Amino acid sequence: MIKLADVSITLGDFSLKNVHLEIRKGEFFTILGPTGTGKTVILELIAGLYRPDAGKVLINGADSENIPPEKREIGFVYQDYALFPHLNVYKNIAFGPRLRKMPPSAIKENVQGLADMLEITHLLARFPGTLSGGEQQRVSLARALIMKPKILLMDEPLSALDPNTKRMLCGELKRVHEKYRCTVVHVTHDFNEAAMLADRIGVILKGKVKQVGVPREVFERPRDQEVKNFLGVEPLKAVYAR
Ligand SMILES: Nc1ncnc2c1ncn2[C@@H]1O[C@H](COP(=O)(O)OP(=O)(O)OP(=O)(O)O)[C@@H](O)[C@H]1O
Ligand SMILES: [Mg+2]
Repeated sequence: MIKLADVSITLGDFSLKNVHLEIRKGEFFTILGPTGTGKTVILELIAGLYRPDAGKVLINGADSENIPPEKREIGFVYQDYALFPHLNVYKNIAFGPRLRKMPPSAIKENVQGLADMLEITHLLARFPGTLSGGEQQRVSLARALIMKPKILLMDEPLSALDPNTKRMLCGELKRVHEKYRCTVVHVTHDFNEAAMLADRIGVILKGKVKQVGVPREVFERPRDQEVKNFLGVEPLKAVYAR
């Protein structure tokens, strides 16, 4: 579904070097790495916000350079939620479908369905500035899902939340994925989150893909000392998704 073939890009002092990743249709793929290793840059390459200096980003076999970003059917959930502050929750969620000129009755039905599922119906008239982090995250998830993306990119969606809310939303993300079966590329530096959610994990260190595998494999058999040093710093509390 998504293939980064030997992708390199230099941004200022940072470079991603010969990144090779294949993400399968319908899988929950987690990019795991410490801060500043290029995780967000990888998502932005997939979303078409950057073009690689070398190599190709393929989506369903087609070179993504030839698909305009708005036609890629990609949803993006940002770490800082990026909601429109001057629009209430309903209008935030309805924003994309309105741009696409979906009939208002269909928009209403879709917003209500998602609000029900994510338990934010009581928040629809509120403005983002009055919401907690967990509530904002649910809204930004609804805003992405309403476009029925084939690919959902999530950049550290849970990192700003307290441990309990995090655990709850983690379960929710899993259910959303099971229901929609879209291909998810999820970025995190949290080992527990990666272990709990991912079908497969890609460990990125210093702009390089170091290891790809199911969580158990990655955590129990790190490929080399560098991966081991990164993963071995704290004991894992999570139950592996796979
Ligand atoms: N447009 C840019 N110009 C210059 N440097 C950039 C640009 N975009 C990203 N970088 C640098 O590239 C490196 C990787 O950035 P990236 O945002 O992908 O890190 P990350 O792995 O997502 O980190 P974090 O976990 O902190 O979000 C950083 O050092 C960042 O400063
Ligand atoms: Mg980032």
